Amino acid sequence: MESLEELQVRKIRDGTVIDHITAGFALDVLKILGITGKAGEVVTAAVNVESKRQQRKDIVKIQDRELRPTEVDKIALIAPYATINIIRNYGVTSKKVVELPQTIHGTLRCDNPSCISNAREPVESQFSVDQREPIRLKCYFCGHIMEREDVLKQF
Ligand code: CTP
Ligand code: ZN
Repeated sequence: MESLEELQVRKIRDGTVIDHITAGFALDVLKILGITGKAGEVVTAAVNVESKRQQRKDIVKIQDRELRPTEVDKIALIAPYATINIIRNYGVTSKKVVELPQTIHGTLRCDNPSCISNAREPVESQFSVDQREPIRLKCYFCGHIMEREDVLKQF
C-alpha cells in the first residue's frame, strides 16, 4: 500500500529527492538551488504534508539533477533533518542526512557591517551554532547573532 505521502507526490525515475524538510521551507530550498522553473527544470514539491517522523514536513523532488556540496550545506542551515536521496532508475541509490556542523565557515556573511569579516581584505566568516532548529548563529569575530530570517535573506 502506498502511503498518503507517496500518493501526494509521485515517484521520480532519476534525480534527487530532498525529504524531511522542515515544514514550510520547501520554497526556500528551491531558492537555495536556484530553481525558478524558468530553465525548464522538472520539479515537484509537497508542502506541509503528514510525516511519520515529524508532525509535518516538506519534500522537493528534482528530476535529472544532483546537488553540489555547497548547496547541501545551505539546506542544512534551514532544514537540519533533511535527507538527500539520489534516485536512479526509480531506486534510492544513496541516502544522506544533511550535516549541520558546530561551526559554519564561509557560507554566510556576518550582518554586522563593521565586523572584521566584512573588512576590505576580508577574513573568512565563522559562526558557532547556538541553536539548531530554528537556526541561531553567533559570529566568532563580533558576537553578532543571526537568526533564521537573517540567514534566509542571504540565499
Ligand atoms: N522517492 C521518489 N522516487 C523514487 C524513490 C523514492 O520520489 N523513485 C522518494 C520517496 O517517496 C521518499 C524518498 O524518496 O520521499 C525516500 O524514499 P525511501 O527511502 O524509499 O523512503 P523512506 O524509507 O520512507 O525514507 P526515510 O526512511 O528517509 O523516511
Ligand atoms: Zn561578525
